[in-house]
Amino acid sequence: MDNIKNIFPESGRLLSRSFKEGQLGQNGHVFLMYGLSGSGKTTIADVVERLLSMQGYHVKLLDGDNLRSGLNNDLGFSDSCREENIRRISEVSKLFLDSGIIVLCSFICPKKDYRNLAQTIIGDKDFTKVYIKASYETCFKRDVKGLYAKAKGGDLKDFTGKESIFEPPDNNDNDWVLDTEKFNINEVSEKMLNKMLPLIKKK
Ligand code: ADX
Repeated sequence: MDNIKNIFPESGRLLSRSFKEGQLGQNGHVFLMYGLSGSGKTTIADVVERLLSMQGYHVKLLDGDNLRSGLNNDLGFSDSCREENIRRISEVSKLFLDSGIIVLCSFICPKKDYRNLAQTIIGDKDFTKVYIKASYETCFKRDVKGLYAKAKGGDLKDFTGKESIFEPPDNNDNDWVLDTEKFNINEVSEKMLNKMLPLIKKK
């Protein structure tokens, strides 16, 4: 941490988040939508973003595959890379949050520790974890990207849910749970939207 010794971050002097939220007519918030590859994270985030935009909200969607194509294209799928992936995403989310934006993050984010790290960076009151629930077997059957077949054939290393661990939430976590095995995408997106509105609506 020697490199930050001579760095002086500016905050109080800059145009405030609450000013920007007032301009936008919304409260910024970060929603971390996590779950296995193929669980429906990005599809739901896309529907929710459109629904919110139609209601006049300002939303940014940050998606795993997209971020890994640019900012995070130096990272693989080891534990340390996944943690660094989430750390950077959390810092980026915070920048949007400081501009009053509603952030939808869609990442596997497989370990509780990474989710806790995101929460620590972003802050409890501005952060909600949303577990997009679907079992490995279901995602295997869906296999939209063909990755489950590759993992089965041994052509994909460290695949989440196979060689690489995925930790679902437990009851103490208080995470929202959206089950894409029981409900279709529109139903789940509607549920998510209704739970979000009290947090993002300006009083
Ligand atoms: S995370 O674990 O670090 O949160 P992230 O959401 O950014 O993962 O990226 C996951 C995406 O990377 C998947 O949707 C999939 O398309 C792709 N991917 C490539 N290799 C793997 C792998 N070994 N495990 C999981 N996803 C992979």
